[in-house]
Amino acid sequence: MRVLLTGAAGFIGSHIRRDLIAAGHEVIAVDLMLPAAHGPGAPVPEGIRQVDVRDGAALDVLLHGVDVVCHQAAVVGAGVSAQDAPAYASHNDFGTAVLLAAMDRTRCRRLVLASSMVVYGEGRYRGVRCGTVDVDVRRREDLAAGMFEHRDPASDEVLTWESVGEDVPLRPRSLYAASKLVQENYASAWAAVTGSSVTALRYHNVYGDDMPRDTPYSGVAAIFRSALESGQPPQVFEDGRQTRDFVHVTDIAAANVAAVEQPLPGFLPLNISSGRPITIGEVAATLAAARGGPEPVVTGRYRPGDVRHIVADPDRARRTLGFVAQVDPIAGLTQFAFAPLRDSAGVYAPTL
Ligand code: UD1
Repeated sequence: MRVLLTGAAGFIGSHIRRDLIAAGHEVIAVDLMLPAAHGPGAPVPEGIRQVDVRDGAALDVLLHGVDVVCHQAAVVGAGVSAQDAPAYASHNDFGTAVLLAAMDRTRCRRLVLASSMVVYGEGRYRGVRCGTVDVDVRRREDLAAGMFEHRDPASDEVLTWESVGEDVPLRPRSLYAASKLVQENYASAWAAVTGSSVTALRYHNVYGDDMPRDTPYSGVAAIFRSALESGQPPQVFEDGRQTRDFVHVTDIAAANVAAVEQPLPGFLPLNISSGRPITIGEVAATLAAARGGPEPVVTGRYRPGDVRHIVADPDRARRTLGFVAQVDPIAGLTQFAFAPLRDSAGVYAPTL
């Protein structure tokens, strides 16, 4: 198949590019080489063209004869300040809108979209008395008092998490999350209007070789890993019992190859996860043990806006794509403890 891959020089995009080529696909690889991700003036890797997805005329040329677009280009991270909002809107939302219009002009009818579990916001919770509930953002007073778990407001009962399927209500909690949901909405409307197919892969917490070193925009695995490398203990926020699903980048790449190869009708969101939840405390302990210390420190500090537990139900991706993650998080994180990391681009905020 002929595939246009955007964000091809990024952490995830470069793994997908390698796997698509290995699977025999013809890959047209593009990347904007944003300074926030690659550093200012970084050389464009061989085989990749420097293209901005917001440039519709450039896309019209590149999309000629393309069967499917695999759209990974995005400004990532949770959003450090409100000043990041225009960059998220411009690259993630306007960029996707320009791409969809160009795909319409060139009659390209299939999109594989990099989405994220951040569209869910808080996950799902259950109480003995209240059953399954959708919870609100945790209150600052509770966090400050060390009450990290969600509670039933009526009975004060501590709620337990449930795994999240794709059809739960979507409640983005950060600027980045808002931009990923808007991107999904544009893609879904485009699929309906044009009769096209969109497979939206909602990545859970991705880690693996060539992950960027820690910046204010990095995920926690890179932050812990970078701390350990410089002899510092990982700083675990809250009580360390917050739960996530850590999925290895090789599994993310495999899910993308499967989605490229298998047309699925209409707009279909899929959780892409390991299916094996893990606490942040366990992530820190696994990385620290693999590197021989220092031991993690559970700080009790918290970041306002962080969600408590978000755990995927991987079943739909298995049924529709045949995707089952191969890397167990404990084994994968143990290997990640010494994996190569990308040099940090510094702490540059994303630019327009
Ligand atoms: C992360 C990404 C999000 C991405 C999603 C899915 C960031 C900032 N967030 O969301 O963009 O879409 O995964 O891949 O990139 N923590 C510590 N110590 C630290 C830093 C964080 O204990 O030094 C804790 C946080 O409080 C949180 C957990 O680790 O409870 C996960 O944090 P993080 O990886 O930043 O963000 P997610 O919310 O999981």
